[in-house]
Amino acid sequence: MSRFKVTITDLVAPGSHLVERELGESGLDIEVVYLDTRAPEEIIRGAGDADGLIVGDAPINRYVIEHLDRCRVISRYGIGVDRIDLQAAAERGIVVCNVPDYCIEEVSTHAVAFLLYLNRRVDTYHRHVRSGQWSPPPAGLPARLQEQVLGIVGLGNIGKAVVPKAQGLGLCVLAYDPYIAEDAAGTLGIELVGLEELLRRSDYVSLHCPLNEETYHLIGQAELGLMKRSAFLINLARGPIVDQRALCQALTSGTIAGAALDVLEQEPPPVSDPLLQLENVLITPHVASWSKQSLSQLRRETARNVVAVLKGETPRSVANGRELHLPYPKP
Ligand SMILES: NC(=O)c1ccc[n+]([C@@H]2O[C@H](COP(=O)([O-])OP(=O)(O)OC[C@H]3O[C@@H](n4cnc5c(N)ncnc54)[C@H](O)[C@@H]3O)[C@@H](O)[C@H]2O)c1
Repeated sequence: MSRFKVTITDLVAPGSHLVERELGESGLDIEVVYLDTRAPEEIIRGAGDADGLIVGDAPINRYVIEHLDRCRVISRYGIGVDRIDLQAAAERGIVVCNVPDYCIEEVSTHAVAFLLYLNRRVDTYHRHVRSGQWSPPPAGLPARLQEQVLGIVGLGNIGKAVVPKAQGLGLCVLAYDPYIAEDAAGTLGIELVGLEELLRRSDYVSLHCPLNEETYHLIGQAELGLMKRSAFLINLARGPIVDQRALCQALTSGTIAGAALDVLEQEPPPVSDPLLQLENVLITPHVASWSKQSLSQLRRETARNVVAVLKGETPRSVANGRELHLPYPKP
């Protein structure tokens, strides 16, 4: 039986070392090498002769890919493949896989948790009470959710999962997604609109599109300027979709009322990041996907994608199927 080498560059979620166990139970003879790095030169040194690569947040650009002499599969430990050069991988016949559905539940719930936090300000009241005060409430009166509008940018797996949760709270939902059919929105009971209209009409704007050349800084000064002064921005997709400098300015000047972010342009943020000082921003450390169930599914399927390719089988989700001219871009 052939012996394979699979290199794991970096994995961030708790329990992620258990990916090695999954590989060990595959029935293949696999040597697992764990690098614990995101540095291109170290990845090339440690993975140049690997048959497969498992990647957390390390950037796998064209330069790295061109130095992977034997690699047949790059398996992303997550959904987003924005840090992997899909075209460069395809040119070398490397299949890039991801796990597109492991945390739809968790991220959509995190979006709703952000929305409820921004509306009900439970933490502000809690801190008020703990400081020995009871009334009057320190923040302004919240709006009734049944009279509010949520605008979803990117109506994919996660965006769609947010819809019934928000509707259950009584919100009216709009969506902007240039790649979705009009009737898909109709069956969800929501309205598909242009980005400008969504920004103007929404009380909450929640981002769920992928990061790519088209969506880099999709929300900048001009777009923030279209939003209501009472509106909130929610970002659980990728930090660079929002021009963070413009956001900071908008939050400071009152162009919008507040923001809740699970992702930032730079992660972790430098301590000097002005966003960290603002009272009208809530930040969580890129944990929207986390739950016991989602992470165990992620471990299992990241490993299974590698094993499938090494066995010559079709993996469950190929992220660069289009670039490879395969008939299965997605499951
Ligand atoms: N915070 C986290 O922990 C976390 C976890 C999982 C995913 N994510 C991010 O969430 C993103 C969305 O995940 P998903 O599973 O819903 O992906 P998905 O591919 O199912 O959906 C993305 C949607 O965005 C749409 N889209 C593409 N370009 C667009 C544009 N320019 N404007 C508006 N919409 C556009 C697509 O048509 C698609 O419907 C991922 O790409 C990932 O970056 C974050």
